[in-house]
Amino acid sequence: VGVLSLGLYCVKEECGMIARPKCGSFFFQASSCPQSLMSIVKADPRFGKLFRFHVPVLMWARHFTKETRDRLKERSVPYGWQGLSDTAIASTLHLLNDSANSWLFDKTRFPEGCVRCAVVGNGGILNGSRQGMEIDAHDFVFRLNGAVIKGFEDDVGTKTSFYGFTVNTMKNSLIAYGEYGFTQIPQSKDLRYIFIPSDIRDYVMLKSAILGSRVQEGYDKGDDPRTYFGPEASAKKFKLLHSDFIHYLTVRFLRSEIINTQYGYLYMPSTGALMLLTALHTCDQVSAYGFITDNYRKFSDHYYERKKKPLVFYANHDMLLEAELWKSLHRAGIMKLYQR
Ligand SMILES: *[C@@H]1O[C@H](CO)[C@@H](O)[C@H](O)[C@H]1NC(C)=O
Ligand SMILES: *[C@@H]1O[C@H](CO)[C@@H](O)[C@H](O)[C@H]1NC(C)=O
Repeated sequence: VGVLSLGLYCVKEECGMIARPKCGSFFFQASSCPQSLMSIVKADPRFGKLFRFHVPVLMWARHFTKETRDRLKERSVPYGWQGLSDTAIASTLHLLNDSANSWLFDKTRFPEGCVRCAVVGNGGILNGSRQGMEIDAHDFVFRLNGAVIKGFEDDVGTKTSFYGFTVNTMKNSLIAYGEYGFTQIPQSKDLRYIFIPSDIRDYVMLKSAILGSRVQEGYDKGDDPRTYFGPEASAKKFKLLHSDFIHYLTVRFLRSEIINTQYGYLYMPSTGALMLLTALHTCDQVSAYGFITDNYRKFSDHYYERKKKPLVFYANHDMLLEAELWKSLHRAGIMKLYQR
């Protein structure tokens, strides 16, 4: 029940023709849930071969080893640390030294239950959906980027356990969705932030956020992280997705054709996709709301637009590939995708 086991994981690098197993240590919290997503995945012919629950989801102090550094130095962001300053990475990771930085939540707090998670994307399908109560009934609710709540409580709920973002998407959301009421990053005592390391900016902001000081250098120099994350500055409040995890997700679940085009270097899974896949690798039951469905043309880009706007397809994401993945995971009974 809620066992913590130490073991080895391997990430087989599948890009290109060379397969190189790389190993490292991890902490793995076993589930005591009888009908867990993991057991459904394991019994599934397709997804049983894709999922690797042993790949660490979060990166923290313990990962700043020579072995990890050598591996990540060979890949560019968000899959590694190529071209990033060692001192910047080291100083950030050393601050993530609390056990709370190693897991999303402590499964031992759910001794006999299944951990139920809702991941709320910002899709127009949620406008008028009245899913708010159902969303809030989950143990944990993940939100991301321009997650407007005020005025949409009946449709999207009010609870936020995790807020996921890159510094770029977070700041862009404040600018682009301010007119719809997204004037502040969600804040509350129990809320935890999930940084996606897509740029040196994310490491630099995370360090300042933990230290409770203004950003000292780089693109966001002068920013006060407390204006985004509130006055409670402590390492416990912040999580950092592991670059190996983002690499594993991209290679196995969202290996887009875009990678082979001139925009290949820009490509990465969307923030929503990273949050949903994070939940799928940590929770026992997952429901996805506000994610792209086959009939996305019926809905506005976001649930909070006043006039219908078509979904914007950015060159750096592959929303149609993501739509296929959500549909297949729903059909396989691995998660519940909200559709209408
Ligand atoms: C974590 O890092 C902080 C800042 O360097 C330090 O003060 C603290 O003692 C460290 N905690 C542990 C458990 O190593
Ligand atoms: C959202 O739903 C309301 C009520 O059903 C509707 O009037 C409005 O046009 C919708 N907004 C968009 C952007 O589709």
